[in-house]
Amino acid sequence: MILVTGGTGYIGSHACVALTQAGFEVLVLDNLSNSTAGVIDRIARICGRRPAFIEGDIRNESLLAQVLGGYRVDAIMHFAGLKAVGESVEQPLQYYDNNVVGTHSLLKAMREKRVRAMVFSSSATVYSPTEPMPLSECAARRASNPYGRTKLVLEDMIEDVYAADPDTSFARLRYFNPVGAHESGLIGENPKGFPNNLMPYVCQVAAGVREKLSVFGGDYPTVDGTGVRDFIHVMDLVEGHVVALRHCLASRGLLTVNLGTGQGTSVLQLVHAFESANGCVVPHELVGRRDGDVAESWADTRLAREVLGWRTKRGIEEMCRDSWRWQLNSTQEHCT
Ligand code: NAD
Ligand code: WQD
Repeated sequence: MILVTGGTGYIGSHACVALTQAGFEVLVLDNLSNSTAGVIDRIARICGRRPAFIEGDIRNESLLAQVLGGYRVDAIMHFAGLKAVGESVEQPLQYYDNNVVGTHSLLKAMREKRVRAMVFSSSATVYSPTEPMPLSECAARRASNPYGRTKLVLEDMIEDVYAADPDTSFARLRYFNPVGAHESGLIGENPKGFPNNLMPYVCQVAAGVREKLSVFGGDYPTVDGTGVRDFIHVMDLVEGHVVALRHCLASRGLLTVNLGTGQGTSVLQLVHAFESANGCVVPHELVGRRDGDVAESWADTRLAREVLGWRTKRGIEEMCRDSWRWQLNSTQEHCT
């Protein structure tokens, strides 16, 4: 059985689908701080099989002991955490507590209950903003906000835990920009309030929930002056997790791998792709740069191909279509 922390969240819910469809039994642990229990029903509808679900917090050590003692957990996919960059600047202690203390509890419980493998959600945000493109896994790391620093600390914590017990197996997966949704339109990203990320904002503008998109910065040294990112379809991303999990279950070691497409797309290119994929209009205007943004970011994907034999299959058009289908199905939730 695979314990999926944060399994009712955006990426975790898609991972539950990919894991179930790959034949794994899934147990979700989530405190529902940024998701709802109804997601479990939706996963069950997609897969025809219901993951086990426990509502609880990864910082609750007695609960973790109970869960890992009560189920035969072979590995953990660890998604639980807070992820809003701006909020992390305002509430740094909440981020260190939730992400660092939470993962510390999980690693401790893993060791005590002899669970030997973990796949961990890291982020391309750990790369220093001055590194050249494409970003390879050996590029220098430097985070520029508390959220990113929690990921740096956790990458290091995992490395130390692995070094102390090389009979374990860890994958630290550095995601680029996950977008899109399951093709059923039943699960997707459900930002509470004002979306921080580009794709949910584009969707809400297209749906008329927001008036127009502010494109942050038109003067970057990029193809059209707007920021360039490596957008990756969430289903490709979670399929990468399943491959990384199999790798961890089959061998011992510490793996650090980028999950991206290796292709950069500018903000305006994404907006235009969205309009043409979905036949709708996304009113937008160029405004000043957003603090802390880098001009461009995309992945060197060689290691993922060589070590995991994994590459993405879905393009920008599919990312835009699937995001829009999810938006149409969930507009009511978004408006509240
Ligand atoms: P999300 O907020 O949709 O999902 C996180 C889930 O974890 C939520 O369901 C939330 O309720 C749960 N959770 C939070 N703290 C918890 C705790 N202490 N105990 C139990 N459950 C808790 O976020 P997501 O986009 O699915 O991100 C998943 C992971 O991937 C996070 O660790 C995030 O930092 C990382 N990541 C996300 C992105 C991205 O752009 N979405 C990029 C890189 C890395
Ligand atoms: C993408 C591009 C914006 C919104 C963030 C986190 C990172 C990672 C992924 C977790 C940029 C532009 C955005 C808008 C815009 N998360 N934009 N108007 O900043 O690459 O990465 O999410 O680990 O840590 O920082 O993603 O979607 O916010 O922005 O013009 O309303 O879209 O300036 O160029 P980002 P994003």
